[in-house]
This record gives sequence, structure tokens and C-alpha cells, in this order.
Amino acid sequence: MSDWLTEAETRAARHGSERMRAAVESLTTAYRSGKPTPQGRLDEDLLASAYLAVRFPATLAANHKAASHILDALAVRAPGFPAPCTLLDLGAGCGAATLAALSAFPSLTTTSAIEPLGSFAALGQQFLPGTIWRRTRFDAALPFAPHDLVWASYSLGELPHWQSILAAAWQATTQILVILEPGTPHGASNIQAMRTQLLAAGAHILAPCPSSTPCPLGQDDWCHFAARLNRTALHRRLKDGALGYEDEKFSWLAAVRTPLLPGAPRILRHPLIEPGRISLSLCTAPTLSPRVITKRDKAAFRLARKSSWGDNFS
Ligand SMILES: C[S@@+](CC[C@H](N)C(=O)[O-])C[C@H]1O[C@@H](n2cnc3c(N)ncnc32)[C@H](O)[C@@H]1O
Repeated sequence: MSDWLTEAETRAARHGSERMRAAVESLTTAYRSGKPTPQGRLDEDLLASAYLAVRFPATLAANHKAASHILDALAVRAPGFPAPCTLLDLGAGCGAATLAALSAFPSLTTTSAIEPLGSFAALGQQFLPGTIWRRTRFDAALPFAPHDLVWASYSLGELPHWQSILAAAWQATTQILVILEPGTPHGASNIQAMRTQLLAAGAHILAPCPSSTPCPLGQDDWCHFAARLNRTALHRRLKDGALGYEDEKFSWLAAVRTPLLPGAPRILRHPLIEPGRISLSLCTAPTLSPRVITKRDKAAFRLARKSSWGDNFS
């Protein structure tokens, strides 16, 4: 069993299922309504325990998925891109982004995390003892020191005025800035606005967009992806989940400082599979390119059958 799961089980047993379920309910309600992590309203240790049991596995899965798409995009769009050595995890919680970054980039030698909640940072320190943990709010850590990789997972959108922290994060980024937000209309619209701000600051969008042109999606559409994770027995107990898995929806972007080669079209929805044909909703920014592939186009059909929502299609 992984470290975090053992710790989650131990903590759940200590707090008791009634308190844990109430805390999980409070976290889930805040998350669904786009509100910040409900600190202050819950005992902090209980809050961290509930987060570890039900949200951490989901944000970890989303970060792993984003990291794997970043590696794919770098290989195709930036051959020879230098391997990052330093990481700054902003609003690190228990360290989901750092864990994903370390597994994607074994070149990382120094990892630092900023997390104001002591109970979250303590867990992070336990899972990532080699990371430098700063228990402070962003405001008190400005300007952020330069790092090759700067990663903000589900944290910037919690701030009432994220614009100045995003500007500071970009300022500190020497190679790649990664941002994840919940895959809700609100989270996706934050990512859109962050993308616009970064483009104005001279950034190039590495992923998930195939180019750095304006986003072709309309106001009432939202760009989001899904990471599937197996539900633990604890997760099922606390959330009354019948399914053995859940799909964590997330919106995200990765931006770099150097110009990029064009990217392949990105699949924006679950492919619609019908007998003899597959319909793909493709982003080819600056346009959208819905495509219907029939069995007659053997190679494309084979590729489409193997492709999933969020993948590149080329
Ligand atoms: C939803 S959690 C995400 C945690 C983690 N990055 C993950 O993906 O699991 C948001 C985190 O942002 C942190 N946060 C919120 N406001 C912050 C601020 N002003 N300065 C630093 N961190 C902040 C919270 O303490 C919390 O740990």
C-alpha cells in the first residue's frame, strides 16, 4: 500500500467515520460550487485527513495525466528542450503536483513547495521529505525565486485576485509553468483568462492547446479533460460510491518561454463511436475541426479507435 493510503486509513480510523464523512461532504460541496478549500470552518487536521482520503487521489491522478501530456508535447513540439532541475509547487497541499512532477521529470534535483496550512504541509513533508516546505501564504513569499518548473495545482483559482500571483509565478518560471484547475465551467474560464494573461506576457502554450493562437471555444463551452482513478475502499466508504473508479475532471495549461513547433489536434470530447464511423471533436486552434472518420480510411480509423478524450490526434 502506498504511503498516502496507509496514512489516510490511519487518520480516518482516528477521526471516526461520522466526522470524516461530514468533512468529506463539506469539501465536496465547496469543490462543486467552486469555493476554496473550507479552512477555518473545520478542524485543520480533520480537513487534511478528508482531503487526503478523497481529493488528493484525484488531484494526483490529474497531475500525472497532465505531466504525461507535457512529456508528449515536449517531445514533438520542443525537441532538445532542456530537462528541468528545479521545481516550485505553489499551494502544494499534500504534494500531489510535486509527486507527479518527480515521476515525469527524474532530472529534478531540487523541489520546493509553498503551503500555508500546517496540517497539509506536514503530510507533504512526510510523503516528500526531500522537498523544501515553506509554510506561508503566497503574499509573504513574493517575489518567488526562479525555478525551471513552476506548478500550481488547484490553487490559483482559490485566490480572489489570482492575476498578481500568476504574474509572479510566470516571472519565476525559467522553463515551464503548469496550472491545473477544476474541470468545471468556472475552473475552465479561469484557465482561459490565465491563458490570455500569459499570452500577453509573451508565453507560448505547450499543452493542451496545439498552438498559442486565441482559443476557438465559445463562451458557453468549456475545455476540460478527465483522469480516471481507482477508488480506494476508504474513498467508497466515505463517499458512498458504487463505482470502482471515478473520473476527475480538470482544466489545465502548460506554458513555456521559447517558441514551439505546431502541436497535433487535441481531442476535446469522448469520441462518438457508431458502427463504421467515429466522430471526433478536435481543437486545431485557432479553429475547431470536428471530424468524422469512416472505416474506409483504415489508418485514421484504427488510430481513432485507440484514441481517447484528451489525447492528441495526428
Ligand atoms: C485545493 S488545494 C490543492 C492542493 C494541491 N495543490 C493539490 O493539487 O492537491 C488548494 C491549496 O492552495 C492553498 N492556498 C490557498 N490560498 C493560498 C495562499 N494565499 N497562499 C498559498 N497557498 C494557498 C491551500 O492551503 C490548499 O492547500
